[in-house]
Amino acid sequence: MDVYYERYNTLRAVIDARLATVIERQCPVTMYEPARYVLNGGGKRIRPILVMLACEAAGGDVRDAIDAGVAVEILHNFTLVHDDIMDHAATRRGRQTVHTKWDRNIAILVGDLLMGNAYKTLLNTERGDLRALTRVFTDGVIEVCEGQSYDKEFEHRSAVSEAEYLMMIGKKTGWLVAISAEMGAIIGGADERSRTALLEYARCVGRAFQVQDDLLDVVADEETLGKPVGGDILEGKKTYLLVTALDSATGEDLDLLQTVAQRNAPRTGLVDRVTEIYRRLGVLDSARNRINDDTQAAIRALNALGDNEGHRMLVWFAHMLLERKH
Ligand code: IPE
Ligand code: IPE
Ligand code: MG
Ligand code: MG
Ligand code: MG
Repeated sequence: MDVYYERYNTLRAVIDARLATVIERQCPVTMYEPARYVLNGGGKRIRPILVMLACEAAGGDVRDAIDAGVAVEILHNFTLVHDDIMDHAATRRGRQTVHTKWDRNIAILVGDLLMGNAYKTLLNTERGDLRALTRVFTDGVIEVCEGQSYDKEFEHRSAVSEAEYLMMIGKKTGWLVAISAEMGAIIGGADERSRTALLEYARCVGRAFQVQDDLLDVVADEETLGKPVGGDILEGKKTYLLVTALDSATGEDLDLLQTVAQRNAPRTGLVDRVTEIYRRLGVLDSARNRINDDTQAAIRALNALGDNEGHRMLVWFAHMLLERKH
């Protein structure tokens, strides 16, 4: 096996093991059982691994970044639980979502609990300025809320510009990826130049990550994705695909895409019809190009860092994300 992939798996196992110990109590079982279900549900763990690799690339030890990484992953999982309520999503990571398996109230409460656990875990961090880390982390919470708010607001708008879309994804997805690198840089004792480079890397990776999430919603294999394809089309989400397709479509294609954007398209056969339009207009390819360009830009940003194992892993990591199927 590829040595980089092996290292990624090792780091992922460290994170999974720590996540399994976060929820210590049993009662009330109606809250702690679903909380444990969320944290033990797998996931790529890309944010905590980024915290660790950024720390290493800055000259630090990955072990010092575990608590901060786990904190970001708990925060991320909290956003997913609430996101699935907001997006009416019944499946994630190949399993029922919390509000589907249990109910909405439980999902809201589990989200709140996870936020508390995220801060509690962050406070265990022993290296780096904890006040600076907490500030960065808290800004992350606020920015994700803003991003999610724009995401929902845009559902009710018939048109969204590409600039507005990029602003929205920079907040709802890019920010947590960015704070992962920034927190790793702080813990690793990065100088200003390295910190800026790591942050720029993460901004580019985060942007590519959400465009790819939008693309996978249409082109992925359902089983691998762990959720139904086409959810964004049915929800009228202003994804990269819809935003760019609305710019170039004409005639009947444009009519249909506009009903998608306004959330009043007939649902039967809709996902297949819209996918076919996306393919024909070339927006699937333009999304792929955009993801590629951002990945290259991310790797270029790392040139400001010295050559070390963390740096090499970050280059591999960006390529791995480019190839991901879920
Ligand atoms: C899904 O994040 C939500 C987005 C921000 C696109 P991930 O794709 O990282 O989800 P998991 O944690 O691996 O399941
Ligand atoms: C998720 O965006 C962003 C956050 C959870 C903050 P999506 O709604 O596109 O994520 P998925 O597709 O449900 O994983
Ligand atoms: Mg969402
Ligand atoms: Mg969603
Ligand atoms: Mg999505």
